[in-house]
Amino acid sequence: MRRLLIAGNWKMNLDRGHSLALVQGLVESLRSISNVDIAVCPPAVYLGELGKALHGSNIGLGAQNAYSKPDGAYTGEISCAMVKDVGCRYVILGHSERRAIFGETDQMVNEKLHAVLAAGITPIVCVGETLQEREAGKTQQVVRSQSIGSLKGLSHDQMLKTVLAYEPVWAIGTGKTATPAQAEEVHEDIRTLLESQFSKETAQKVILLYGGSVKADNALELLSEPNIDGALVGGASLKQDSFEGIVRAASSVNK
Ligand code: PGA
Repeated sequence: MRRLLIAGNWKMNLDRGHSLALVQGLVESLRSISNVDIAVCPPAVYLGELGKALHGSNIGLGAQNAYSKPDGAYTGEISCAMVKDVGCRYVILGHSERRAIFGETDQMVNEKLHAVLAAGITPIVCVGETLQEREAGKTQQVVRSQSIGSLKGLSHDQMLKTVLAYEPVWAIGTGKTATPAQAEEVHEDIRTLLESQFSKETAQKVILLYGGSVKADNALELLSEPNIDGALVGGASLKQDSFEGIVRAASSVNK
C-alpha cells in the first residue's frame, strides 16, 4: 500500500501576508486528514516563517530547489542543510521550469538529488515530455532518459526515499490535463523502468506523483489510477479551497 502525497508547488507566487494566511487556513481545514501526506512548497524566503506556522501540523514544508554543494561561494544558492534547518521535509528537484528556464540538466538534478538525500530530506524529482516530444512519439524515451539520468547512482534504500513526479510539460499551467489513461500509461512505464533498474519490490514502493493542471474536479479520477500515488499541484495550490478539494479527493480514494 502506497500512501498518497499531495504537494503544492507555489512557484514564485504569493506575498508574505497571503502565504501566511494560506498556511494558517490549510492547517485548520486539513487538521482531520490522516490518511494522506500533505506538503506545501512556498518561495524560499518565506520557508522559515511558514515552517513555524506549520509546526505540529500534518502539513510538511518543502523547498522548490536546493543546491548540491554544502557551502561556499555560490551566490544566490541555498544548501540542503539550510532548507533542512528551517524545517523542510521535502525538496522539489528538476522541475521542468528549472530545466527549461534555468538550464538544469539531468546531471545537475542528480547531484542535487544525492545532496538532498544525504541531508535526510525527501526529494521530489520531476520528469516529463514537451508537446513536441509527445507528438513525435518520444514520451517514453524522454521520460525514461530523464529518470535514468536524474536517478543515477541511487541505492535501493535511497530510491525508496525518493518521490518521482511525472509532469508533462504541455499540461503545466495550461489547463490541459493528461487524461487519467495517458498519465497512468507513463506511470506504469516508470514503474517498469524502476523494476529493471532496482527490483520489483522497490519499484512497487516508490511514490509516483502526477502533475499538470490538477484541480479539485479532476483529482479523483487521476488519483484513482493504480500507479498514480498523489499530485504535484501548481496553480490550484494557491487557493485554500482548491488545494483542500484535491487533498480531500485524495483522502477519499480507495485503492
Ligand atoms: P500546474 O503546475 O498545476 O499549475 O499545472 C504543476 C507544476 O508545475 O508542478
